[in-house]
Amino acid sequence: MSPANKESDMHDEGRSKTLVRFDDVRKVYQMGTAEVRALDGVSLRFGRGSFWAIMGPSGSGKSTLLNLLGCLDRPSSGRYEFDGRDVGTLNDDGLSELRLRELGFIFQSFNLIPQLTVQENIELPLYYLGWEHGRSARHAKELAEEIGLGDRLSHRPMELSGGQQQRVAIARSLANDPPILLADEPTGNLDSATGTQILELLGKLHQRGKTIIMVTHEEDIASYATGQLHMRDGVIDRIEGSADASD
Ligand SMILES: Nc1ncnc2c1ncn2[C@@H]1O[C@H](COP(=O)(O)OP(=O)(O)OP(=O)(O)O)[C@@H](O)[C@H]1O
Ligand SMILES: [Mg+2]
Repeated sequence: MSPANKESDMHDEGRSKTLVRFDDVRKVYQMGTAEVRALDGVSLRFGRGSFWAIMGPSGSGKSTLLNLLGCLDRPSSGRYEFDGRDVGTLNDDGLSELRLRELGFIFQSFNLIPQLTVQENIELPLYYLGWEHGRSARHAKELAEEIGLGDRLSHRPMELSGGQQQRVAIARSLANDPPILLADEPTGNLDSATGTQILELLGKLHQRGKTIIMVTHEEDIASYATGQLHMRDGVIDRIEGSADASD
């Protein structure tokens, strides 16, 4: 074993390969007298450092799954473990804390704050984490440079193209250095060439060790991921690829 391998093994010592685990997770919405089973018993494991595409027809539960993974919503039943912790035992403050420290979000419509500049948008999570201003400003600048927008720091989202806005949103999702990025149709509002650039950026982040879970309708976008999970009527229809953890 080379010294480099030894070092990375030591680094991983004591950490489970599974970052996310669902056991029989359900999400039921009561619509008047009708029940909508948005998730109808999903069990899965996502390994640390894996890159998954979540696919399936409209209404099959993809966003519901991602929102539960992102602690934006709670399951009706079932167990969710994040990095070995039972998420179901956390109160609302605990969930917010988990989101702020451990999760990065990327949305189809970018969700940048229009009144804030590029730099301020990227800095926002750091503001909530209580970073000192000079430090968060420096970090935001570094991130903006990394995504190729170091010269647009004082621009507002409206002054950027869609692809540039999504890159800012990715920089913002990275600000707190989360182990996992959750992306709901990150290329859904972009033309295919721009979408490809965004996927190349996500691919680079995956290579650097980020776990990425991405909802997409498009086969060519999904092919960037190392595993594809297909949903149908609130359940997992089939899984392709070998991105799962083996422990
Ligand atoms: N807040 C809600 N209240 C009631 N029903 C909901 C709610 N959110 C989702 N649903 C229902 O749950 C099911 C799954 O929705 P979800 O948004 O997860 O689908 P999706 O796979 O993301 O679809 P799309 O590809 O169109 O985004 C749908 O039948 C939807 O109508
Ligand atoms: Mg959706």
